Amino acid sequence: MPSPESSLLQSWHDNADAWIEVIRSGAIESRQQVTDQAIVLAIMGRQPQRVLDLGCGEGWLLRALADRGIEAVGVDGDARLIEAAHLAGAARVHVASYEALVDGKVDIGRDYNLVCANFSLLHQDIIPLLAAMNALLVPTGVVVIQTLHPWSVAAGDYQDGWREESFAGFKGQWQPMPWYFRTLSSWLNALDMAGFQLAGLQEPQHPQSPVPQSLLMVAERR
Ligand SMILES: C[S@@+](CC[C@H](N)C(=O)[O-])C[C@H]1O[C@@H](n2cnc3c(N)ncnc32)[C@H](O)[C@@H]1O
Repeated sequence: MPSPESSLLQSWHDNADAWIEVIRSGAIESRQQVTDQAIVLAIMGRQPQRVLDLGCGEGWLLRALADRGIEAVGVDGDARLIEAAHLAGAARVHVASYEALVDGKVDIGRDYNLVCANFSLLHQDIIPLLAAMNALLVPTGVVVIQTLHPWSVAAGDYQDGWREESFAGFKGQWQPMPWYFRTLSSWLNALDMAGFQLAGLQEPQHPQSPVPQSLLMVAERR
């Protein structure tokens, strides 16, 4: 039986084309209305010169940052998504799994002012990855994580554990994706264990929605 971690990355290999289509057609309303702007503003608020986009996907955030004069480097474990990011203009992108980054097997540069992860920390064992990212930051560096808001997606089961996303309601052919649900305290513990201290927490919300669209954390190196 493959582990949930390997099925998770495999699902991105299977879903890459459908994902590119969904993102580039603007089909995810919460992204259009709330979360894209939220992460761009959170990053810009830190005025970074160099940003690493961890799990950059097809690269929309790399393009948004480059348009604002920021040197942005992307890394993702799916070669098709990285190819799409490159073809759409991202100058510096790397294919690497999180496991390879933890093991230090791939050189993705260092001395970043900021590492961002936009809905890309979906696996269980995030502490070694966050610690590896910590080591790539300048001493004053920060990590910016936007993720599913645990209270919005708990569905009555508020404890850490693997769940499955079926992508029901998305157009196209999709393979289900395992992902790891994490409570708020679990997120904060993970940041702490990886050598970060929380500097800001936001719950981006649309005025017409009763629940937040995401959880957005900014944490500084300790
Ligand atoms: C929901 S997408 C988000 C993509 C992008 N950050 C965005 O905002 O559109 C999650 C991304 O995480 C990447 N990812 C998930 N698990 C990974 C792993 N173990 N190693 C490398 N990349 C991984 C996927 O390939 C995918 O591009």
